[in-house]
Formats: sequence, structure tokens, C-alpha cells
Amino acid sequence: MADPREVLAARVSAALAAAVGAEYAHEDPVIRPSTFADFQSNVALGLAKRLGRPPREIAAAIVANLGADDICASVEVSGPGFVNLRLRDDWLAAQADTLRTDPRLGVPVASHTRTVVVDYSSPNVAKEMHVGHLRTTVVGDVVVRVLEHLGHKVVRANHLGDWGTQFGMLIEHLVEVGEETARRQLSAGDINAFYQAARAKFDSDPAFAERSRRRVVALQSGDEPSLRLWRILIEDSKQYYNTIYRRLGVTLTDADLAPESFYNPMLAEVCDELQQSGVAVISDGALCAFPAGFTSRDGEPLPMIVRKSDGGYGYGTTDLAAIRYRICELGATRLIYFVAAEQSLHFQMLFAVARQAGWLTDQISAEHAVIGLVSGTDRKRLRTRSGESVKLITLIDEAVDRAERVIADRYPDPAVRHEIAQAVGIGALKYGDLSVARASGYVFDFDRMLALTGDTGPYLQYAAARLRSIFRRAQVDPDLVSAPLGLTARAERALALLLLRFGSAVRQTSDSAEPHLLAGYLFELASAFTTFYEECPVLKATAQVRDSRLTLCAITLRVLTAGLDLLGIPAPDRM
Ligand code: ARG
Repeated sequence: MADPREVLAARVSAALAAAVGAEYAHEDPVIRPSTFADFQSNVALGLAKRLGRPPREIAAAIVANLGADDICASVEVSGPGFVNLRLRDDWLAAQADTLRTDPRLGVPVASHTRTVVVDYSSPNVAKEMHVGHLRTTVVGDVVVRVLEHLGHKVVRANHLGDWGTQFGMLIEHLVEVGEETARRQLSAGDINAFYQAARAKFDSDPAFAERSRRRVVALQSGDEPSLRLWRILIEDSKQYYNTIYRRLGVTLTDADLAPESFYNPMLAEVCDELQQSGVAVISDGALCAFPAGFTSRDGEPLPMIVRKSDGGYGYGTTDLAAIRYRICELGATRLIYFVAAEQSLHFQMLFAVARQAGWLTDQISAEHAVIGLVSGTDRKRLRTRSGESVKLITLIDEAVDRAERVIADRYPDPAVRHEIAQAVGIGALKYGDLSVARASGYVFDFDRMLALTGDTGPYLQYAAARLRSIFRRAQVDPDLVSAPLGLTARAERALALLLLRFGSAVRQTSDSAEPHLLAGYLFELASAFTTFYEECPVLKATAQVRDSRLTLCAITLRVLTAGLDLLGIPAPDRM
């Protein structure tokens, strides 16, 4: 079983090599969907100039060498030099029918499995987990699921920001409000209010500011009472993050925490190593690396600060220690960082320094998976009416409330309604995020996310629920269908072609760390199913057609739910 598009690509490549020379065997055969056939190859048009031959002549030579009667019903040169390819119904049906008994649904385990460290979510304890972290969390979690599904060994790294000078002030504030009040506030996610109150005192009260500074020094030199208070701050924030992860159905647990403080014991050694190897040098009292190719606006070499002139370490030092640890200790050969676009320069410099240090080699890929900004409908950073940044938990609650209103009239029983609303609300929220290319920003809009038609989570869930309802009405278990698949109608062919593309959609998502490719594929699949559902009766068809269509429905249901599962989106039984 394989994606027909890839089968055709291989055939056309071979034909091209036979027709014009072996040196063209690796040319992209440019296979595209076609309005006149199933696919077309546009390769002849691109080669015409280089070969100095008319494109139609090259196309004809490809056709003459194709020998694809076993898979194609028709092969034609058309227009200025396209090769139109129409697959045989029996071949396509046989290919799609293999999915009926394939537990992996055409998604083989990767031939070359790797250890992949995925840095995602990574909120800051001292700051509110904002909607930007929703994206790094949700998008990263899909890539993790996809990589694991392909057999890779994945290490989730939640690079929690739990260290830094702000903690002096936060600890002093905690001491003043009392542990109990502080804990209540923090575990409810009111980190912003807590942070702002501390900040206000820091800015207005010199004695408080001085105590805060002394506290940082104590904390960083390992003072046990200070550490105990610091742990309270972390513990309660962690509880809040875990609440969010559970609500969202994100796979992160405490075991995946690799917070900044984890790397503290390695920082001095990293500095020594970089200084000894000459990668970092003292500049104005600070230890700095100057990776080649990075300059400031006025052409000065740009430093990555490894150790500050006061002896302190920063965000960059921690990331250097982390990348070294991930490569040298964890044995990662692929590193993916799901982090906001603002940090692009930081990661470029980090990778450059890691390369100079010899940690990062050509066998290892380091990727900053850029995450774009989520904005409010006014196109600015998402805020509440009173101007504060929106708490993530509030957003989740609101998604579920709104979903409940959307489905209210269909589910009078509150328990059932609530359960479905949970799935639909979370699904809408996550899908709204996942269906956008991760580097692009998008406008956060509940109405758009929750629409039952269009490219939305509820639309996909609805398709799955409709499929389940077909099987309920037929009183057939979709896991036990045994009739072979036949294809007669146009909508059935279109659906079969898509089902066979699942494997490539998953692989592309893994290669590019772009969940929107999988989301887009599932949307196409759900749309193709909707067309099929409107054009092709299932239960009212004659026995043989009915059985074949039930098989097609069963495979569609499995691919759709497996795909939604990789997206971390539940598929409720009814909607
Ligand atoms: N805590 C950082 C932030 O919220 C993101 C950390 C990303 N990971 C990393 N290894 N630097 O901006």
C-alpha cells in the first residue's frame, strides 16, 4: 500500500530517465492533482528549456516509456505538455482495501528512528502562562505524538522558566502576604496579580527592593530557607500548569520538566569549556561568544553572553548547557524548539555557538520551530476588556461554555451535554491553533473556531460522529467490516485517494514539525467524506454496494479518529 501520488511519481521519474537520460532520474516529477484526470505531471514544461526540446515532445516520450497499464486507466499528453494520469478503479480499490486490515492505516514506522528532544510549552513561573504558551504547548504536543507514532524516541523537555533575578522579589512578596494566601493565588493561576503586586512594591519601596536583591544572592548561593520559599512558588505554579495540561489533553507530566534550574550545576563547567576551547572570550568583563556572521546594525560582532560581568548567568547560558546536555547526555540527533518568533536570533546564535563548540554536528538537526503571535480581534495582543492579558484557564472555560451553547438544543441531558461540550470546546480551541501554519500569527476568534462548517475542529468531529451514527443505524461494528472495497462513484474515488494519503501527511508533519499539514489533510478528508455522504447512499444501496461502502466508511472513520488522536483532539461518539 502506498500513496498513489508517490507511486505515480516513482513511475514518471523512471520513465523520464528512460526517455531523456539517467541523469534526470532524480528530477522532481511535479505530480499535481488534476481537474481532467486524477493527477498530472508537469515535469516536461520545466525541462523543455534545459533540454532544448518542445515540452509536448518530452511529455510524449515520458508516456511512451511509462508502461503503467497496471495502475493507470489512461495516460495522455494534454495542453502545452502536461501528462494526465487517471488511475484504474480496480487498482485504486485494491490499494485502499489494504487499509481495511492494516492496523497502522498506511503509516509505517520510520525506517531510520532517532532520539528527538522536543522543547515545548516552557512557561515562566514568574509570569502568567499566556495565550502564546497555548500555541507552543498544543503545537509541540502534536509533533511529539506524531514522532512517537513513527517510532522515534522522544524526550519531552518542558524548559520551565523557574530561575532568575525576579525570584528575589517574588519570594519577598510571598513572605509578606503569607504562605497560605500566596499558595492559593498561585495554584489558581493568578501569577500575574502576584507578580504585579511584587513589582509594584519593588518599584515603590526601596527597603523591599533591597531585601529582594539580597534574597536573589541568598537564593543563588543555595541558602536553604530561600530555596524552600522558592520551591513553594514553583510547586504551586506547576499545579496550575498541570491543570491546564490535563484540561487540554496535553501529554506533558511532571516527568517532562527540565526547568532552567536543572541546568544550574552545569553552568560553570559550560563556561570553562567554552573559554578553554576559545569559543568564548572575555569582553568588557563578561564572557562572550561571537558566532560568525552575527553583527549589530553598525556592523559590530554580536555577542552571545555566556557569563555576565558580575559573574551571573542568563537565559543564554542555560540554553547552552541544555543543548550540550541534550546532545551529549541524552544522545539526541534531532532537537526541536517550539518557541515564539521573537526568539529567532537567540536560537540562531545558540545553534551557531553549539556548532563551534563541537556539540552540534552535521548528523544532528537543530530546529527553531517558530511560533507566531496570537492576537485579539483588534489585532493586538490578546487582552481582557480591562486590559489584562487573558488567563489561559479562562480561555479554556469559555471555549467549553460556548460549545455547550452551540449544542444546547440537541442535548437536553446536562451530563451528556457537558461531556460533549468539553470535547467540542477543547477540540475547537486546539484545532483553531493547529490549522494555522505555526509561524503565522492568527486572530483568536471563538465564533470562527466553533463553527460547525468550514475548517474547524467541530466540523471534523462532526464527520466522525456522522460515521459512527451510520454504523449504529446499520448495527455493524466498524472494526469488523470484512467486505472488500469496490469503487464506482466519483465521490468514492476521491475519498479513497485521500485515505491513501494519510501516511504521507503524517510523515510530512514529522519532517517539517508543522501540524497544520496533518490538520489540512484531515479537513480535506472530512470534506471528501461529506461529499460522499451527500452523493452516495450507504444503507439504502443494494447489498453489495452497501457492504463496500460500509468498508469505505469504516476506513474513513479509523483514519479520521487516528488523525484527530495525533492532533490530540477527542472525537465524541455523537454531536
Ligand atoms: N520560557 C521561555 C519563554 O516563555 C521559553 C523557553 C523556550 N525554551 C528554551 N530552551 N529557551 O519565553
